[in-house]
Amino acid sequence: MPKVSLPHLPISCLFGVVKPSGPTSMSIINDVKQLVARSALFVEAEKLEKAAGQKIPSKGRRARDLIKIGQGGTLDPLADGVLVVGIGKGTKRLSDFLDCTKEYYSTCLLGCETDTYDSEGARIRIAPWQHVTKEKVESALIQFSGEIQQTPPIFSALKMDGIPLYEYARKGIPLPRPIEPRKVTVHSLELSEWKGSNHEFRWPKKSFSKEEKEAMETALHGVDENISLEDHPGTTADAVPTAFVLKMKVSGGTYVRSIIHDLAHALGSAGHVVTLTRSRQGRFVLEPTEDEDRQCVPWEVFENASSNPGPVDDEGWTKWEREVIERLEVVDSKK
Ligand SMILES: *[C@@H]1O[C@H](CO)[C@@H](O)[C@H](O)[C@H]1NC(C)=O
Ligand SMILES: *[C@@H]1O[C@H](CO)[C@@H](O)[C@H](O)[C@H]1NC(C)=O
Repeated sequence: MPKVSLPHLPISCLFGVVKPSGPTSMSIINDVKQLVARSALFVEAEKLEKAAGQKIPSKGRRARDLIKIGQGGTLDPLADGVLVVGIGKGTKRLSDFLDCTKEYYSTCLLGCETDTYDSEGARIRIAPWQHVTKEKVESALIQFSGEIQQTPPIFSALKMDGIPLYEYARKGIPLPRPIEPRKVTVHSLELSEWKGSNHEFRWPKKSFSKEEKEAMETALHGVDENISLEDHPGTTADAVPTAFVLKMKVSGGTYVRSIIHDLAHALGSAGHVVTLTRSRQGRFVLEPTEDEDRQCVPWEVFENASSNPGPVDDEGWTKWEREVIERLEVVDSKK
């Protein structure tokens, strides 16, 4: 192992973690916190001594006194890939990552729309997909590229008149006005893989009840009198619906799941996100392509260390600490 020269300990830094699909971003941060709060890399010796043998609380003053940790842009539970973590003064740099350019790979499964626009949600509508070809997808991508107006999904935490949008949909309250579209920039958007029916994805089993559909229709009627969440007659799940993967580079604030949803509509079908991988957030990446790019720490490193940190090396660091040391970016307090 090459010797890494470390600044004065404890260090403030940023590093990337490769989040797996499944857990929330919050639970990832909490698991990482359990390790870093016991590491001499990040915590002063006297604080470490005081906290020895105690469980690290996930929040509250005692947790914040011991270690400051945060992340630079939540990934949904379904999503995997780059999650930027800040420690100590690094937490003050995390807001830079909300606005930065991000790259994603996302798989769209056609023929079915869900409330959340992804496979964690419930079916609200099914529509024909057999007419959608690779060529049609490729030509439809053009209208979603560049500077575009994007309407956030109704099942999002955004608020209208102080009430979250999803509350309108759930309770069947008509929206007082249309959801305001936002200007976002799609720097690039391309078809990365055409899977056709050669994949394991299926529409979600969970489906909206008649009452839930009616509540959502009522919410949306305020803004679109023609909205219909009727299933298209004769469309069934007997045949395996088409899936394809998009690769995109987008500005901060872009909803990837809205691109997939809106694209499927533009194709005269319905669709939802079944995989979402963030491959770049600023300079933190899965695969480096530029000089300043930084690789991220695989989740397995932290997972293994939580059950057994293992032995220390010549310089006194365990395997996970060494992996982080090699990938971290020191945040200098003087800057
Ligand atoms: C609803 O459909 C009617 C008839 O197709 C059309 O004239 C009208 O513009 C539509 N309204 C909206 C809000 O799209
Ligand atoms: C995690 O532990 C497993 C089982 O001991 C091992 O095979 C694997 O290489 C470890 N992974 C990392 C990244 O340390």
